[in-house]
Amino acid sequence: MNRLRITEYHFGNFPNANHSDFNLPKKRIASTPVFQQVASPSVPLPSTKNEKPFMRWEIQEDQIEVQTPAKLNLYLEVLGKRDDGFHELETIMTAIDLYDLIRIRKQDTNESSEQIRLNCKWSVVDRFYKSTAEKRGTELETDEPFGDLPTDESNLVFQAAQLFFGETGIEACVEIELLKLIPSVAGLGGASGNAAGTLLAINRLFGSPVPKPRIFELAAELGSDVPFFVNGGTAICRGRGEKTTQLSSFAKLHFVVIRPYFGLSTKSVFSKLDLPKDVKRLNIQSIQHFGENWKSSLFNRLQDPAIFAAPEIGEIIETLNQSGCVASQMTGSGSSCFGLCESHQQAKKIADQLRSKRIGFVYCCQNLPDFSVPF
Ligand code: C5P
Repeated sequence: MNRLRITEYHFGNFPNANHSDFNLPKKRIASTPVFQQVASPSVPLPSTKNEKPFMRWEIQEDQIEVQTPAKLNLYLEVLGKRDDGFHELETIMTAIDLYDLIRIRKQDTNESSEQIRLNCKWSVVDRFYKSTAEKRGTELETDEPFGDLPTDESNLVFQAAQLFFGETGIEACVEIELLKLIPSVAGLGGASGNAAGTLLAINRLFGSPVPKPRIFELAAELGSDVPFFVNGGTAICRGRGEKTTQLSSFAKLHFVVIRPYFGLSTKSVFSKLDLPKDVKRLNIQSIQHFGENWKSSLFNRLQDPAIFAAPEIGEIIETLNQSGCVASQMTGSGSSCFGLCESHQQAKKIADQLRSKRIGFVYCCQNLPDFSVPF
C-alpha cells in the first residue's frame, strides 16, 4: 500500500525556504499555446511523479511569467458555521494541470500613471455555450465564455499585487497580463491560484523581499483557498480552507472535468446548506486509506445543495458514472464536476465522447505534484 507522507506546512511551522526549489522550465512557456497544451494533449502525459511542475515559471530581468493551476476537491466536509460567517471545513484538494497564464512586467515609473495596470483575456471559445445560456436565461449572456473579467481592484490578481506593494513599501509600477483558461464560478479555484501565483511571482520579480511564511499569511487575507496554491500538490485544508497540511507522495490521478454552461456562486451554495448533524471527520487512518476505494472515498457535502440549486449537476455526475469513470462528484461549491479515470487514455476517450454531448466545457486533466516555486 502506498503510505502517504503528511507534512505540516502552515503558519508557525514552515521549513526554511529552499533555493533548490528553484525549478525553471528550459523553454519559454509563452511560446506554447496554453489551451492546446493542457486541454488537448497530443502526446501521452508523463506517468512518473514530479515530471510536471506545480507552477511553471519563466523569469527575465524585468518580467516574470507563471502558469497557475486549478484544483479539485476530492473530499469536502463542512464541520460547522463560525461566528465570522465562514464555515469550518475539512477538505482534500489536489492541483490539476489546467492552467492560466500570468505575465508581470516592470514599468518605467515615469511612463505609467497607475501603479498596477491589469489586462485580462479568456483563451477559450465554445460557441455552443452562448445559445445554451440564452435558452436558460442565465447570467452567461455575454460574448465571453465565463463572464466578464474585471481589470480593477475586484480582481484577486490586482489585490495580490496591491497587497505586495503595501507590505513592502516598494514604489514601482507593473503591467500584468492574465490569460484565462480556467473557467470561473466553477469550484476550480482559478482566481485563488491566480492570486497565489501573482503574490509569488511579483515577490520573485522584486528580489523576494517577503519570506514564504508571510506569503502564506497574505494569501489567507486574499481568500480561503489561496494558501493551498502557494504549495499546491495535494493537501488537507482546514479552518475556512487556509490551514494546509501537505500530503506528499499522493497518487497520480487522471480526470475528466466538466464545467456546465452555468456557474454557481460559493456564497449562494453555502447559504443553501443545512448543516450536517453527523459530520464526517478525517483521521490518520482514513487519510492513509484514502483512495483505496474511490467510490467511498470521494465526498462533497456541498453537492446536494448545489444539485438543489441546479439539477443539471446531478445529471452530469450520472453521465460521468455511466461513461465508465471509476467515481464522480462535484468540486468545491460547483458548478464543475469531475470523473476519476483509470488512465490518461481512458480520460481522453471519455472526454472526447462527452464533448459531443454538449453538456459543458470538457477538460482532460491529471493532478500535479508538490510545489516547485522559485523563491
Ligand atoms: O474566502 P472566499 O472569498 O473564497 O469565500 C467566498 C465566500 O464563500 C465567503 O464570503 C463565504 O460566504 C463562503 N465561504 C464560507 N466558508 C468557507 C469559505 C467560503 O462560508 N470556509
